[in-house]
Amino acid sequence: MTKSNNTIESVGEAELRLADGNTVKLPVFKGSEGEHAVDITKLRAETSYIAFDPGYGNTGSCESAITYIDGEKGILRYRGYPIEELAEKSSFLEVTYLLIYGHLPSESELETFSDAISQESMIHEDMKRFFNGYPATSHPMSILSSMICSLSSYYPDCLENAPEHIDNNISRLLSKVSTVAAFSYKKSIGHPFIGPLNKLGYVENFLNMMFAVPAEPYQVNPDVAKALEMILILHADHEQNCSTSTVRMVGSSQANLYASISAGICALWGPLHGGANQAVIEMLSGIVDRGGDVAGFIQRVKDKEPGVRLMGFGHRVYKNFDPRATILKSQSAKVLKALGLSTPLLDIARQLEEVALKDEYFIERKLYPNVDFYSGIILRAIGIPVNMFTVMFAIGRMPGWIAQWKEMFDTPGLRINRPRQIYTGSEKRLYVPINKR
Ligand code: SDX
Repeated sequence: MTKSNNTIESVGEAELRLADGNTVKLPVFKGSEGEHAVDITKLRAETSYIAFDPGYGNTGSCESAITYIDGEKGILRYRGYPIEELAEKSSFLEVTYLLIYGHLPSESELETFSDAISQESMIHEDMKRFFNGYPATSHPMSILSSMICSLSSYYPDCLENAPEHIDNNISRLLSKVSTVAAFSYKKSIGHPFIGPLNKLGYVENFLNMMFAVPAEPYQVNPDVAKALEMILILHADHEQNCSTSTVRMVGSSQANLYASISAGICALWGPLHGGANQAVIEMLSGIVDRGGDVAGFIQRVKDKEPGVRLMGFGHRVYKNFDPRATILKSQSAKVLKALGLSTPLLDIARQLEEVALKDEYFIERKLYPNVDFYSGIILRAIGIPVNMFTVMFAIGRMPGWIAQWKEMFDTPGLRINRPRQIYTGSEKRLYVPINKR
């Protein structure tokens, strides 16, 4: 099977011997980085059997040319560019353009893209009134998911997913997600909204909306902006993770971009996924509050005490190190130093990592720090409140969600995603009237 983009190469076939003694031959192909796959698209039609893979740990849901991860070697590349280079040399909007449109933009392409985003930074005045209905204690992820879905009410040209509107819908989403996020923070602290300033860059504009106040001038700290730029780049995409797969699942029904992304925001919220960065800080703070007893906490994790996990550790794909965690670990110390800050949380995090990486429990389960283990320390240092951490992950992941949704829509023959199941319920039985039960 050779696909149009020439990155799928047929490499022969596999033969499957079934329980009933029959065999079936299945095509085998490999991707541009040599991963092999058995094509089971005809399995049920030819054998009535299905493959069974709860959690999809062994199942490829799509072809994609956006992001490559090698979990054993700790490799992460966006459109072929190593994450280490992009984190050091690129900007969030440049990486956003790369992920969505497939190449590093020229200066004029980046300027046009950035201007289109700036022009969309305000939200409709009626949408501002949504905030009056939310309690101040609302989790900002609940506000973000509903406001992003509501964009389809204000911009109905998104509903048909017409190609001529896609780029405008994309700029609108990239821009308004940061405005809505900042407004949800201002709502939570009872401060007036600070509107976007189109003369500022994307990250500076967000920081200004978050932390400026009408009562006095506010100047964005360049160290803070640089740290946030790097954080957003590191979160920008991660192939078929839970929230991206959710975006693809919802988009496969031809739901509009905003509805698909809103579903991805909800999936990211879970503590096993994007909610982990908030859970890590709460875990570290809890250890500090209990006198810094790292060994005691590690023992509680190993005892599998209900509700106790080493948050920010482990990954379905990375069975070695998460390259993003490596970058964030070194950056966390630099950011704290640049800002003249110190926190016991970084010491506790380092102690936890040191103990865990030497402990057989974590080694045999291949548990290493992931992107969430150190990110919260930097977010806290630059003044982001803990309940906004997952919102920052969502802002960072927005380009990846959009790129993956667009790639799916651009793929000829889009079919709705509809997995099968193995039924284990009751066999056929007849209705019994209530007076005879
Ligand atoms: C993200 O998929 C992506 O790409 C996600 C992401 C992205 O960029 O989109 O990288 C972002 O979500 C990172 C992960 C953030 N989540 C956390 O840090 C939460 C803590 N970690 C986990 O709960 C867990 O490791 C997962 C959810 C990340 C992965 O779960 P898996 O692959 O389903 O692994 P599992 O739960 O089956 O665990 C296997 C074993 C179990 O022990 P046993 O039953 O074999 O004895 O490892 C144990 C688990 O109990 N284990 C942990 C652990 N993670 C797994 N034990 C203690 N602490 C942990 N963190």
